[in-house]
Amino acid sequence: FVPPGSGGGSGGVPAKDALGNDILSKEYLAAKPAGDRSLAQGLKGDATYLIVKDDKTLEKYGLNAVCTHLGCVVPWSAANNKFMCPCHGSQYAPDGAVVRGPAPLPLALAHCDIDEASDKILFSPWTETDFRTGEKGWWN
Ligand code: FES
Repeated sequence: FVPPGSGGGSGGVPAKDALGNDILSKEYLAAKPAGDRSLAQGLKGDATYLIVKDDKTLEKYGLNAVCTHLGCVVPWSAANNKFMCPCHGSQYAPDGAVVRGPAPLPLALAHCDIDEASDKILFSPWTETDFRTGEKGWWN
């Protein structure tokens, strides 16, 4: 059950921090540098990356951190500008596209929107085309 959004908009599940508190976008964006990719608790409790764009706004999608090979959580490597899986060496581009296997598929997407009224960051399911592959999202 997903309660309706409090400030209009499409509703969604609030992104939560490691302590289980809802993340507020203004505070979050003030604290993170451009290009930052940090984990939040997302849909179904899945670890999901929030992405800070170069203009210090939040990217409209989050990336599920679960490696599509065998399910390790994939860390972001700012130094390499890639997500690099420690388990078997898969690598993903900053948008989650596969750049090196064995991962067969890109990191799953979720919509990421800010609720104007509450300033919460809301995740909702990505059911549209995967813009990285031009195909239907494999997670649907
Ligand atoms: Fe990530 Fe195997 S689980 S490369």
